[in-house]
Amino acid sequence: MLLVEGGRALFGEVVISGAKNSVLPILAATLLNAGESVIHNCPDLRDVSSAIEILRYLGCSVRREGGTVTVNSSGMFRCDIPQELMQKMRSSVIFLGPVLARCGKAVFSAPGGCELGPRPIDMHLSGLEQLGADIREHDGVIECSADKLTGEYIDLPFPSVGATENLMLAAVYGKGTTVISGAAREPEVEDLQNYLRACGANVYGAGTDRITVEGCEDLSDAEYRVMPDRIEAATYLCAVGACGGKVRVRSCRPSHLTAVIWPMRRAGLDIEISKNEMIVSAGRMRSPAVIRTMPYPGFPTDAMPMAMAMACICQGTSVFYEKIFENRFRHVPELMKMGADITVSDRMAAVRGVSSLHGARVECTDLRGGMAVLIAAAAAQGKSEIDCVYHIDRGYEHIERKLGLIGVSVTRRE
Ligand code: UD1
Repeated sequence: MLLVEGGRALFGEVVISGAKNSVLPILAATLLNAGESVIHNCPDLRDVSSAIEILRYLGCSVRREGGTVTVNSSGMFRCDIPQELMQKMRSSVIFLGPVLARCGKAVFSAPGGCELGPRPIDMHLSGLEQLGADIREHDGVIECSADKLTGEYIDLPFPSVGATENLMLAAVYGKGTTVISGAAREPEVEDLQNYLRACGANVYGAGTDRITVEGCEDLSDAEYRVMPDRIEAATYLCAVGACGGKVRVRSCRPSHLTAVIWPMRRAGLDIEISKNEMIVSAGRMRSPAVIRTMPYPGFPTDAMPMAMAMACICQGTSVFYEKIFENRFRHVPELMKMGADITVSDRMAAVRGVSSLHGARVECTDLRGGMAVLIAAAAAQGKSEIDCVYHIDRGYEHIERKLGLIGVSVTRRE
C-alpha cells in the first residue's frame, strides 16, 4: 500500500530506467547464444525477476549485480515452462520463440487473459506454424516442435509487438530467410534487433514494418545496454502535467516520445528537448486533449491512463479513444473516487476537467492504471491510500524513491 499526501507541485530531476518492454524480450533472447550475455541497464522490477526465474528454471545461470544481469545459457536443459511461472507475467509468452529455436521443442501453458482484456496469442502461433512448427494444444498446454524452422514470408494482420519479437527470435536459427511484413515498429523491437546483432545475428529492418532475419548456425557472447523506458519518461511528463512544477527528465530518448510530447504541449505543458533529456514545466490549469492510442509511432496505449490522470484537472473536456486493448479503462472508477468526472462508452472515455481532485482510498487495477491513480493522488488535495501497489512494482523501478525526489510525499506500508 502507498500513502500519498497530495497537492504539491513537483520540482527536481528524475533519471529514467532501462525499458521494461525491451529487457524482457532481450532476457528471453539470451537463451539463443548458448553462452554468456551481459545485459546492462536492467531495471529492478517484478517482471524482470519473473523473467530471471524462468531462465533459471530452464537451466541458465543468472547473476544480478546492480543494473547488470549476466546470463549464461550454456547449461539450458529443459524446454517447458510450468503454469505458475507463465502466470507471473503475461509476456512470458516471449520465451516461446527462443526456446523452440534452441531446443526444437517448447511446452508452455497458455498465458490466458489479463487485466486489459483477452490477449490472444494466435498471431504468435500461426507465425511459428508458417515457419514449420507443429503446434498442439491440450488441457491448456501448448506444445510446439520443429527439428529446424524454415525461413518464410509472414504477413502479420496487426503489428503485434510480442508476435513480431517472438517470430524474430524463432527465425534466428531458421533455414534461409524470414521476412516479417506488417511488423510492429516500436523502439523496443529495434532494441531487440540490436541485441541480436550484437550476438552476430543477421536481422535488419526493425523500426520499419518489414523485418528480415537471415538464419544462422550459431551466435556469440554479447554485452548490451538496454534502451531507456519511454513509457516511464511519458509517466513523468504526465505527473508534472497533473501536479504542476518543473522537472528535468534525464537519460531518456525524446525522439521515441514525439506522439506524446505534441498533445502534451497542446494541453499547455512546456517541454524543452535535447538529445537525452527533457525539461517539463506546467502551471496548475491546462487545456483539454484528444488522444487516440495507436501502434508506434502513434500515441502509446501504455501512456494513455497517465495522460487521463492529467486530463482530470484541466479546463474543458478531453477525449480518449483506446484502439489497442478492450479493457483499458479499469482505473476510471478509482479516479472518480477522487472526484474525477469521466464517462466511458465502449473504447472511448470523455474526461470533463475539474478544478481539483481530493484524496481517497483507491486501488491499482493494473500496471499503468495503477500509475494513473498514483499520479492523481499526487495531484489531489489531501491524503490517499493506494492498495494493490504490486501492479505498479511490475513496471516502475523504486517508485516511491523516484517520486519522493521530485517532491511527492509518498510512503509504503506493507
Ligand atoms: C506489448 C507491451 C505492452 C503494450 C503492448 C501494445 C511488452 C512486454 N508489452 O504487449 O506493454 O501495451 O505491446 O503496445 O512489450 N493480439 C492478438 N493476437 C496475438 C497478439 C496480439 O489479437 O497473437 C492483440 C492483443 O490482444 C492486443 C493487440 O493485438 O489487442 C496488441 O497486442 P501486442 O502488440 O501483441 O501487445 P503485447 O506484445 O502483448
